[in-house]
Amino acid sequence: MKQNFPFSKDIKRAFQNDPPGQWMTVVPTGCIRLNSGYPQPVLVPSIEIKEAVARLIDEEQDLPLHYIGSPRIPELKKFIQQRMQKREVVLSEEELLVTSGACQAIDLISRILLDDEAVVAIEAPTYMEALEVFGNYTEHFMDVPIDANGLDTDRFEEMLADKEAKGETLPRLLYTIPTFQNPTGTTMTLERRKKVLELAERYDFLVLEDDAYGELAFGEQARLLKAMDPGNRVLYVGSLSKVVAPGMRIGWVAGAEELVTAMDWFKKDLHHPFAQATMASYLEGLDFDSHLQELQDAYQRKSSVMVAALEKFLPKSVSWYTPSGGYFVWVQVPGVDTVQMLPEALAAGVAYVPGRYFFLNQEEGREFLRLSFSYAEEEQIVKGIELLGQVIGRTVPQENN
Ligand SMILES: Cc1ncc(COP(=O)(O)O)c(C=O)c1O
Repeated sequence: MKQNFPFSKDIKRAFQNDPPGQWMTVVPTGCIRLNSGYPQPVLVPSIEIKEAVARLIDEEQDLPLHYIGSPRIPELKKFIQQRMQKREVVLSEEELLVTSGACQAIDLISRILLDDEAVVAIEAPTYMEALEVFGNYTEHFMDVPIDANGLDTDRFEEMLADKEAKGETLPRLLYTIPTFQNPTGTTMTLERRKKVLELAERYDFLVLEDDAYGELAFGEQARLLKAMDPGNRVLYVGSLSKVVAPGMRIGWVAGAEELVTAMDWFKKDLHHPFAQATMASYLEGLDFDSHLQELQDAYQRKSSVMVAALEKFLPKSVSWYTPSGGYFVWVQVPGVDTVQMLPEALAAGVAYVPGRYFFLNQEEGREFLRLSFSYAEEEQIVKGIELLGQVIGRTVPQENN
């Protein structure tokens, strides 16, 4: 019998949403995983992390296993400060909080800023787990379209002006992934970045800049919003998940001291000392720029392999954005419902994520799918796209071919 537990008002409201993880497909064994936004297993430094743990325990004994005390914890913070400085963001200790992944940072930001009256502006499409987090706090969103140049700032401006004219609540927060966006792979132009900051000032909202993929550029790196933020309105969120290992759960948030202090108030897992000290130990003596260069080269190759295979095997009506970094290719298959096509793709041996999970208004994602070139090996990518091409060829309505 179901017990009637006294859930809080906020939790009861959140329970009305779809349960988290609806977008996760059960992928049959042997299926090529073009759905997984994970690093390629060979690029995860498991041997080095094993050595880092051994070094940590040899040198610190039980220290990193206590609540506090490992000298490597402040070292990790220094490493992050230095990396941010390379990208033109100078941070004091008080302006930086190391979190259990970018996801915890997004949750903490929501915790301190959102309530059931708050409006959050998001990109359409956007990272589905962030949508789930925001949905735990509010049901009010404003979804702004994306094109090949990132968030459509002209449309955003119109939408804000319209809201203001109608006396509607303006957003408190804009959530954006300006560089190598998940799921579209697109990057916001410099001009649009400036426009976002101008709008933030004019309409008085904060900006959550999620930069989970920002260091995985195949060419030039885009300038961070946080690096051109005179009003201190940007909360920058970074992560080592995509460039070291997601299971280590190391991310961070950087922003105005008052906001970071508020987040620290609610972060009750301390510095999750073992993970932070292990990461610091791994990073010691590592030439991080060369490490990044290796990853950039590897993912650029894999991206090119995927794009070449798409050109070879997909019907002419299908289109996509060619990424210049990150993990993803966003594909449009006109006339096809990609949720309905998925069982056939899985049976054929290839997995993708249907586009609808990345939209607030799921219908908008009907004809889209997200492919990831990060996880599978190059030959698997080619094979997977060939299989996908066959499935799409059988599914696409004749008039679209
Ligand atoms: C845009 C974006 N932000 C954040 C994350 C999560 O990062 P972390 O593993 O650091 O929580 C992901 C992971 O897929 C992501 O795609």
